[in-house]
Amino acid sequence: MTRLHNELSLDAYWMPFTANRAFKADPRLLVSASGTRYRADDGREVLDGISGLWCCNAGHGHPRIVEAIANQVAELDYATAFQVGHPKVFALAERLADMAPENIDAVFFTNSGSESVDTALKIALAYHHARGESERTRFVGRERGYHGAGFGGTSVGGIGNNRKHFGPLLPGVLHLPQTYDHEHQAFSRGQPEWGAHLADELERIVAVNHASTIAAVIVEPFAGSAGVLIPPVGYLERLREITAKHGILLIFDEVITAFGRLGAGFAAERFGVVPDLITIAKGLTSGAVPMGAVLARGEIRKTIIDAAPDAIELFHGYTYSGHPVSAAAAHAALDVYRDEGLFERSRTLEPVLEDALHGLRDKPHVRDIRNLGLVGAVELEPRPGEPTARATEVFVRAFDRGILVRTTADIIAVAPPLIVVEDEIATLAAVLGDVLDGLD
Ligand SMILES: Cc1ncc(COP(=O)(O)O)c(C=O)c1O
Repeated sequence: MTRLHNELSLDAYWMPFTANRAFKADPRLLVSASGTRYRADDGREVLDGISGLWCCNAGHGHPRIVEAIANQVAELDYATAFQVGHPKVFALAERLADMAPENIDAVFFTNSGSESVDTALKIALAYHHARGESERTRFVGRERGYHGAGFGGTSVGGIGNNRKHFGPLLPGVLHLPQTYDHEHQAFSRGQPEWGAHLADELERIVAVNHASTIAAVIVEPFAGSAGVLIPPVGYLERLREITAKHGILLIFDEVITAFGRLGAGFAAERFGVVPDLITIAKGLTSGAVPMGAVLARGEIRKTIIDAAPDAIELFHGYTYSGHPVSAAAAHAALDVYRDEGLFERSRTLEPVLEDALHGLRDKPHVRDIRNLGLVGAVELEPRPGEPTARATEVFVRAFDRGILVRTTADIIAVAPPLIVVEDEIATLAAVLGDVLDGLD
């Protein structure tokens, strides 16, 4: 079969978060997808080991989602969300409020995880302002956190490469220490026992800066993009206690963790820790069309609305906030998750993925393996003087063998769609094992 890229110019497209020169020298093109599989332009099937990009939780091309999108675009392709609405988005907000932890019942729609994060940060500032505490302007993120590519998300994020070219970013941002420690946590199955005390660093930050200057703390329940860093037992609980004690809002960035990745609707539910704001995107539509949202404690919205004169209360929103096609896709995705029991399925498959990944422990170059829910990572020893090269080679060789994974630094992440079957998990691990065996 002819590879499409032989006839296709690859020049104009400036690819995001991609080594453009390397890609264009050796392109990988996906042309269709169904269920857990992509088809590449040379006709090969590729098993999706990362749910697209942590988003296609119901797999690809689910007929109910496809139909909902097609019907919606024909019926009502667009309606502005400014001073006008449409029924599906109100109904979707109600559904999300019902799914969310108690008291989190206000829903603000966005189009991506990055927009959700920037929106949540702005809501936090507006809330403190409305309460007469407008000196609370600092945000606290965490080392190795990823909160999208907007200026707000980049500022609270803790990945040096993502920040280094973009100047001082938001002023006053501070960072908690990351939660990963190889010595104490390597080869943990599920949550590591060691590390809850790392949350106490927030007390030090509060002591140095004073609580009255801090608006919010934002963390991913587990850090995804930085390489699947699982929260130690008790860590999130402690962050919740300290933030509550000091009147600081706690934002869980659940862009990856919501909608079944951890076997529940939200990581907040899995961990039994309820933040003040939750950011979502990705799995909300199972990745089929863009949509994100911020879920907030009702009291936060009420405070902002009550404090405003009788006019617009929050000067924020997007042309495509609550887009009808996205809303229809989200309804269909939530129906699929419910009717196919996919959150429960994720929980059932958790030990299968855990055993499959930890079975790679004795493979060459393996430095650590960790997992939780339907997500896991294999961390490799970097090749001396060539950080990232080894994992990049795994990515390319695995793709050539029909498996799509994701790598960050020398970490290989896997997070298959929640519809994955046990045989596919076994194949994924077997191919990774073979690739590692052949690596120098
Ligand atoms: C935790 C988290 N927040 C925010 C984002 C940004 O989402 P998006 O790429 O949809 O803007 C991501 C993306 O991977 C993410 O993992």
